[in-house]
Amino acid sequence: MKLFIDTANIDEIREVNDWGVICGVTTNPSLIAKEGRDFKEVITEIAKIVDGPISAEVISLDADGMIKEAKDLAAIHRNIVIKVPMTKEGLKAVKVLSKEGIKTNVTLVFSASQALLAARAGATFVSPFAGRMDDIGNSGMDIISDIVEIFDIHGIDTEVIAASIRHPMHVIEAAKLGAHIATIPYSVFTKMLNHPMTDKGIERFLKDWENAKK
Ligand code: E4P
Repeated sequence: MKLFIDTANIDEIREVNDWGVICGVTTNPSLIAKEGRDFKEVITEIAKIVDGPISAEVISLDADGMIKEAKDLAAIHRNIVIKVPMTKEGLKAVKVLSKEGIKTNVTLVFSASQALLAARAGATFVSPFAGRMDDIGNSGMDIISDIVEIFDIHGIDTEVIAASIRHPMHVIEAAKLGAHIATIPYSVFTKMLNHPMTDKGIERFLKDWENAKK
């Protein structure tokens, strides 16, 4: 399973990219708004840091508006992927964009049937939101499992991005289920990295090293 970072914060992207573990970035309007900066400027900067798919989301709700925004965003860099909401208009936009060779990520996916529609419209990626499904008492991971199974049975090459990741166990479960990608917030990356036994181990090694010199 590949790892993307789910943020529009340049410092967070730079840091985790330096760890060597990510090969893509996802953003959304809320994440961009949090940065208080120009949308295109942020996306351009991200594309200079990470050499992999960078999802930038459209705001329009009608297909024509989405396509217009998509072309504008796709012109920023060859790695830009257009994030489109899982609606009727979104599917129409995906159909057109995929024919024109523009990659898409269908977002706000909450069921396997939505994922199947997105894939058949030509989506490059689909993003089921695990955490937000858990929030309303559904199992986000069950939906991801269904999508992975269906795509596998039918040889669908749309990649599944496990999104709305809230904790390291979400990442592990998504990996075990065969999700192609997990897009992970910075806070979860740090939780994945740290372990008290690792800290204790380093402390003990250094102490033994120092004692041996005495
Ligand atoms: C996915 O691409 C979204 O940006 C993201 O995972 C949403 O997560 P949230 O539910 O934590 O906002």
